[in-house]
Amino acid sequence: MWLSDLAVDQRAERVLVAGCGAGLLPLRLARGGASVTAVDMNPHAVTCCLHNAYANGVHDRINGIVADMRELDGRGEYDLVVCNPPQLPASADPRPADWVALANDGGRDGRSLIDWLCEDGTRLVSAGGALMFTHFTFLDVERTVAALRAQGMRVTVSEPLHKPLGRLSGERLPRLTEWREGDHYSVVIITARKLGI
Ligand SMILES: C[S@@+](CC[C@H](N)C(=O)[O-])C[C@H]1O[C@@H](n2cnc3c(N)ncnc32)[C@H](O)[C@@H]1O
Repeated sequence: MWLSDLAVDQRAERVLVAGCGAGLLPLRLARGGASVTAVDMNPHAVTCCLHNAYANGVHDRINGIVADMRELDGRGEYDLVVCNPPQLPASADPRPADWVALANDGGRDGRSLIDWLCEDGTRLVSAGGALMFTHFTFLDVERTVAALRAQGMRVTVSEPLHKPLGRLSGERLPRLTEWREGDHYSVVIITARKLGI
């Protein structure tokens, strides 16, 4: 919801939601008037997103595609690229049909899709457009900011939101650092704008 609030505020016309899940981001953006491409590797997620789009009367503004976001072609197609990437450290890269792992696992260090967003995801953004994504603070925000700046993006980082550890994150985070029952972790939203007109 937090990411979608900030994304809707951008008032972008052509939007890519990379990893659309059940469709919260696409639906809210389409309701705000955007034309949305909703991509997910999980076909059930895309079906669910499109059902929700029909149920909410915004199906004419959402194009659902089953695809790996890392294989999207194009350059500068979108005024806004939004992503809530899987970013929990995992013992291995998720296999394509392990849908729960695919929704949560970010490779061995948790950063695999974050690194892709910084290096290749920026290519999909139009001049003057923006890339927005969630980022757990334990995954080295400074490294991400530096990688985006190296791509010529102007970067802002939101204030952190503190969240209690859920079951899944509680199981995974001890691999990175020491966590105790009742601990919280923090999420920020990174906005990277491509300079130009
Ligand atoms: C953390 S969930 C976010 C879902 C939704 N956007 C939300 O915020 O509620 C991550 C989503 O990304 C999808 N996903 C993971 N890796 C992907 C990839 N390489 N290409 C496309 N979708 C991917 C998962 O299937 C899952 O639906």
